[in-house]
Amino acid sequence: MENFEFYSPTCFVFGKETENRAGELVKRFGGTKVLIHYGGGSVVRSGLLDRVKTSLDKENIPYVELGGVKPNPRSGLVYEGIDLCKKEGVDFILAVGGGSTIDSSKAIAAGVLYDGDFWDFYSGKPITEALPVGTILTIAAAGSEGSGDSVITKEEGMLKRGASGNAIRPKFSILNPALTQTLPAYQIAAGITDIMAHLYERYLTNTEEVEVTDRLIEALLLTMIHEGPRVIADPDNYEARANIMWAGTMAHTNSCGVGRSQDWLSHMIEHELSALYDCAHGAGLAVTMPAVHTYEMPHNVMRFAQVAVRVWGCQMDFAHPEVTAKAGIEAFRNYLISIGMPKNFEELGAKEEDIPKLVDVLLHGNGGNGTISGFMTLGEEDCTKIYQLMV
Ligand code: NZQ
Ligand code: ZN
Repeated sequence: MENFEFYSPTCFVFGKETENRAGELVKRFGGTKVLIHYGGGSVVRSGLLDRVKTSLDKENIPYVELGGVKPNPRSGLVYEGIDLCKKEGVDFILAVGGGSTIDSSKAIAAGVLYDGDFWDFYSGKPITEALPVGTILTIAAAGSEGSGDSVITKEEGMLKRGASGNAIRPKFSILNPALTQTLPAYQIAAGITDIMAHLYERYLTNTEEVEVTDRLIEALLLTMIHEGPRVIADPDNYEARANIMWAGTMAHTNSCGVGRSQDWLSHMIEHELSALYDCAHGAGLAVTMPAVHTYEMPHNVMRFAQVAVRVWGCQMDFAHPEVTAKAGIEAFRNYLISIGMPKNFEELGAKEEDIPKLVDVLLHGNGGNGTISGFMTLGEEDCTKIYQLMV
């Protein structure tokens, strides 16, 4: 195991009706003027936004509002949010929604305290200072409610890039599984896929002897395999939603990723798809992961065989471990299809003729040096082959 420092200061408040504690929590974490940031309207329609406002009113905390965050959040609204916060003297950002709203909130929080262009953070500058952020999560997926990351798309060139820093880890996150009840089945499945991707990206490591984190990841993957179909078959199943929601948070606080190298190639390769086609990130991952894993498998056959046996219940073929490894990749692909996710470019709405463009932006966009690294280092030929596996 490698040396590590793990800082995860978020206060998680979990359970039914916990959104009514928003005001109390903003106060506890020092907010005196709040920006309520939200997406395309689901929180207005569900009545959640009104409940949050009532909770702030009860604590006499003034607020301004900025809605309109799109899935795959754009930089334009971030600039708008930064200006609004400066003008209104906002000192706390409250994200009400999914990963996109939370990521946009984190970008605004960092941008308000920075004199330069906030996009610098999405071009490699670490975030060391930000306004405090609180979240009220409405979809189990991205894990942004417990992560130190934010992903934003710059409209110019549709560049989708991430920024990181402990300063943007939320001060608190309210997790009420019942709030996910209004989600369409496709979004639930996309969320499940993203959660499993965050686990796989950590499982695919070049570090030896990391049994504790391996076992944590396997437990969470098994939970997702069990609970995913239950929630899709029975949308009223609160307990299944609760297990998925907490698994989603644990998958991405990085408690499962400490002390080990991680992969993230599937995420980098997928981000070009959701940037270009504006597809759901989880749906893009459903098409990307089986291709990336197939390509990566020869790099460490035993790692793929291990997850196949321990998580997917495959029989270990000691003479031909690659057979076991492949069976595990196939089982994962079939699971994703079974929950309603797309399986190839066509079903995702992607086009084969765009592959050179996808590879170019992936490797050279935003100052890229022509390779990407994770479990393996990939260049142009590798990435082209991987996208071709998705066709
Ligand atoms: O905008 P509204 O109207 O709220 O609708 C959203 C949106 O259309 C809807 N939705 C959310 N909760 C709902 C609901 N509809 C009905 N009822 C509810 N309770 O679902 C749609 C998707 O929302 P979004 O926030 O985009 O989903 P998600 O949480 O999957 O976030 C995806 C974004 O997170 C990034 C992705 O790249 C993508 O941009 N990621 C962020 C990470 C991080 N910050 O740590 C890590 C991830 O790997 C990921 O890259
Ligand atoms: Zn993800």
